[in-house]
Amino acid sequence: MGQSWVAVRVFARSLLIPLVAGHGSVVRPLPRQAVDADQAPWASGAVPEPVPRVSLPNEAGTWCPVAGASGARLGKYSANLAQSCFWFSNGCAIGCHACDGSTRGPEVGPEKRKVCATPMNATLCDERLRTVNTDAECGSAADRYAFTPWRAPGFAPVFDACGMAGGRAAGPGGHGAVYRNTSHAKQGDLGSAVLGALNTNTTWSAGDTVEVSWAITANHGGGYQYRLCPAGEPLNEACFQKTPLPFDRSRKQLFRWGGLDGTKAWFDGDYVSEGTNPPGSTWVKNPIPRNDGFTGAGFAPKCDEVPDCRTTAVESDCLCSGMWGPYNLEIVDYVTLPSSLAPGKYVLGWRWDCEESNQVWASCSDVQITAARASK
Ligand SMILES: *[C@@H]1O[C@H](CO)[C@@H](O)[C@H](O)[C@H]1NC(C)=O
Ligand SMILES: *[C@@H]1O[C@H](CO)[C@@H](O)[C@H](O)[C@H]1NC(C)=O
Ligand SMILES: *[C@@H]1O[C@H](CO)[C@@H](O)[C@H](O)[C@H]1NC(C)=O
Repeated sequence: MGQSWVAVRVFARSLLIPLVAGHGSVVRPLPRQAVDADQAPWASGAVPEPVPRVSLPNEAGTWCPVAGASGARLGKYSANLAQSCFWFSNGCAIGCHACDGSTRGPEVGPEKRKVCATPMNATLCDERLRTVNTDAECGSAADRYAFTPWRAPGFAPVFDACGMAGGRAAGPGGHGAVYRNTSHAKQGDLGSAVLGALNTNTTWSAGDTVEVSWAITANHGGGYQYRLCPAGEPLNEACFQKTPLPFDRSRKQLFRWGGLDGTKAWFDGDYVSEGTNPPGSTWVKNPIPRNDGFTGAGFAPKCDEVPDCRTTAVESDCLCSGMWGPYNLEIVDYVTLPSSLAPGKYVLGWRWDCEESNQVWASCSDVQITAARASK
């Protein structure tokens, strides 16, 4: 009996291991979070193969693979993003006044749900907008992800609107909450405080619809929003929440494999504007289902998926589903800039509210915005 209990524990641990690491980052425009790309080991330009999994101590695994120039489906991945996908806020549940840095979330069942002294109920209940455990009745005991950020998009607290290096202050902590210290940033540093402007050569016109993209390193479901803050203002939630960017719904969302010249597939995104923060602003669901067998019912892939692909493999052969990446894939959106924007320097913020964990990812990219084009 004792032995079978050990076996169960070992089995449970092996199930949990693939769940521990998170991460995602904006790809274009290149975010400030990519600052470490000039240092070893990322300066080599290529992610090692096989791709190291996020690991402790924070040495081997701090990579954010993204499609290289080759366009090959499983070719070398670029290390251009350095540690961009390690800037986040850990332990942030809806209704909480602050993140606690450590309560990753409901990985083992309802009893581990993060509930603060001031609980907030989920505002997002529609199963078509959920990404994990989608068939659980909203708010029921079986709905173990009910307090995670995506279940009330934009309401969870964060440590910083541009993320924290490693997602939490230095100290023992798991769940991918690591950062490899460099001369630019150390574990626990706030993005808005330590990350300077990074020229992205991106100039946009007010009123235009522009293309932006992000990539998943490890998939925690949920959804995201892009927003703007003038570069000269404090880069905090209050500033970014003044200018959430609407998605251009006349264009579909796009999967792009293998970089700018790579293979493309268009699909209908799942948008939500009710129960969101800022009130009425639109968020879009992360279109990659984990479909991993650990996190309950998922949803149908948005592309013509490879039958029986290896959903839980780190270098998966799946095209648009799974727990890791797919590393060669960018998720492309079209967002519309307000035509009333004053010309100047802005920071494009991206906030990914996860559902499978109490984690919020952030990227901050520098852009120049010029006056709206004269109307025809
Ligand atoms: C959350 O929902 C439950 C059940 O419907 C309700 O009893 C409770 O008052 C709600 N809590 C908040 C903070 O709205
Ligand atoms: C990284 O920096 C943090 C904050 O200064 C420090 O506490 C931690 O010990 C450092 N980690 C390593 C591996 O040097
Ligand atoms: C911006 O342009 C400069 C000059 O062409 C180039 O060196 C730099 O790599 C570019 N930066 C990015 C992020 O593309």
